[in-house]
Amino acid sequence: MFKSAKRNPLLTASLLTVVMMAPNAVAHKDHDHSKAEGVVKERLDFMENMGKAMGGLMAVVRGQKDFDAEDVMANLNVIHKQSGQAITKLFPEGSNGAPSEALSKIWADWDGFAEVAGGLRTRVESLKSAVQSAGTDAGAQKAALQQNIRNLGGGCRNCHSEYRKKQNRD
Ligand code: HEC
Repeated sequence: MFKSAKRNPLLTASLLTVVMMAPNAVAHKDHDHSKAEGVVKERLDFMENMGKAMGGLMAVVRGQKDFDAEDVMANLNVIHKQSGQAITKLFPEGSNGAPSEALSKIWADWDGFAEVAGGLRTRVESLKSAVQSAGTDAGAQKAALQQNIRNLGGGCRNCHSEYRKKQNRD
C-alpha cells in the first residue's frame, strides 16, 4: 500500500524510541493519545514528556549521545517539575475510564500513591545534587548520572508496578 510508505518515518521514529528504552523498565508503547480526552489526555502527554526526558538521560548513559551537562540538567528538571503533586493533581478521583491504564487502586490507596509520587521527587533531587556536587568535570558528572539513573528509574517503576495496568511491554 502506498499509504503505509507515508507512515514509515513516524513508525521508524517510535520504534527507535522503543528500542532505545527497551531494556529499561520504564519502556512503554504509548497510547494512542487521540482516543483520550480531558485530564486523561493531559496526563498521557505529561507522562510521555517524562518518558522523553528519561529517554534522553538513558541515551547519555548508554553512550548513544554525548554528555552535555546543560541537556542532562534540563531533562532532570523536567522530571523534577513533573513529580510529587504535579502528578497527583492529574488524577482526580475515578478518572480511569478507557483508554486510561490507571488502576482504581490509586484512589483506594491515595496515601500510597502520593507517597510514590513524592518518592520520584526525592530521587530526582538526589540525582541532581549528585551531578552538581561532581563539580565541573564532565567525566565525573557523567559518572554521577550513571550511578544514580537506576534509582531514578525505580521511582517510575514503583508507581507503575502498583498503580498502572500491567503490560507485557514493561
Ligand atoms: C505516582 C505514580 C507515577 C509515577 C511516579 C510515574 N508514573 Fe508514569 N504513569 C502513571 C500512571 C498511573 C500511568 C497511566 C495513566 C493513564 O493511562 O491514565 C502512567 C503512564 C506513563 C506512560 C505512558 C503514557 C501513554 O501515553 O500511554 C509513560 C511513558 C510514563 N508513565 C512514564 C513515566 C516515567 C518516565 C516516569 C518516571 C520519570 C513516570 N512515568 C513516573 C503513574 C506514574
